[in-house]
Amino acid sequence: MSLSLGVIGLGRMAQVILQSLFLKEKFSSDEVLGVVGKTKSVEQVLAQFSNDISVVAANDSEAEKVWQLPVKILAVKPQQINQIKEKAYIASDLSKDRPLLISIVAGVNLTRLQALFPSHACVRAVPNTPVLVGSGLTGLSWGDRVSLEQRELVEAIFKPNSEVFELPEEHLDAFLALTSSGPAYVALISEALADGAVAAGLPRDLAQSLTHSTLEGTALLLKQKGLHPGQLKDMVASPAGTTITALRHLEKQGLRSALIEAVVIAAQKSREMA
Ligand SMILES: NC(=O)c1ccc[n+]([C@@H]2O[C@H](COP(=O)([O-])OP(=O)(O)OC[C@H]3O[C@@H](n4cnc5c(N)ncnc54)[C@H](OP(=O)(O)O)[C@@H]3O)[C@@H](O)[C@H]2O)c1
Repeated sequence: MSLSLGVIGLGRMAQVILQSLFLKEKFSSDEVLGVVGKTKSVEQVLAQFSNDISVVAANDSEAEKVWQLPVKILAVKPQQINQIKEKAYIASDLSKDRPLLISIVAGVNLTRLQALFPSHACVRAVPNTPVLVGSGLTGLSWGDRVSLEQRELVEAIFKPNSEVFELPEEHLDAFLALTSSGPAYVALISEALADGAVAAGLPRDLAQSLTHSTLEGTALLLKQKGLHPGQLKDMVASPAGTTITALRHLEKQGLRSALIEAVVIAAQKSREMA
């Protein structure tokens, strides 16, 4: 089979996306050309894939081939994006779609993408880290000139490992502040809860494992029963009991306000980066 998917920045996030594409047989390994920054990264990336894909370093002459492919995933770090120079692709058949560029680079908006890659139809995708376990969330915003067929392809790329949401671009910063940064907030809360349980006398492993299950079970209960979080809180907190005593303490310490402000400030930062 011939090459059809280019991955510019075959790092952690792109590797996860590729693995699930192979698993779901959306693309086969011999269709993919991946580009990484450093020559020493080529071997490291190849070791992640049991099937043989083509991976080259950015300074290898073969890397230029990526620009001839109809679909590219751009997954470099935001600060590396200015190193990526489009080699304009002129389709032999002008009635065909423009080549598609799917960017997962945080904080680079569609206007900037279109300016950097003018011969492409661009899409912004915001996946989050739980795509690693097939429980991710991905927000998508379409640039101009993305055809219906290309939209279907983009959805097929992200659906195997995440729930996909199409959003106007002005909502992507808030989406990112909640879902992409969210796993870090939840990890922090998880660690702190486990620390509390250790301080109260539980062994560390048990405390952490119970914390994971409490978070998982609570999210499932809220989702499956369609409960408002306030309803669940009231169900658990009995008069003059342990839970209401702890909740009172959390309110005094400003936990709720700290979390609200964290999401708002992350969205603001994402807007500033753009
Ligand atoms: N991690 C997340 O949860 C998450 C979620 C949503 C979006 N994102 C976005 O995904 C992007 C990638 O994140 P990541 O965590 O996967 O980062 P990463 O592991 O550092 O991957 C970046 C990749 O880009 C390569 N690269 C550097 N310079 C290059 C160049 N000139 N040409 C081609 N490739 C080049 C790097 O190769 P070398 O290692 O050899 O330098 C590396 O393979 C970021 O923009 C981030 O904002 C991440």
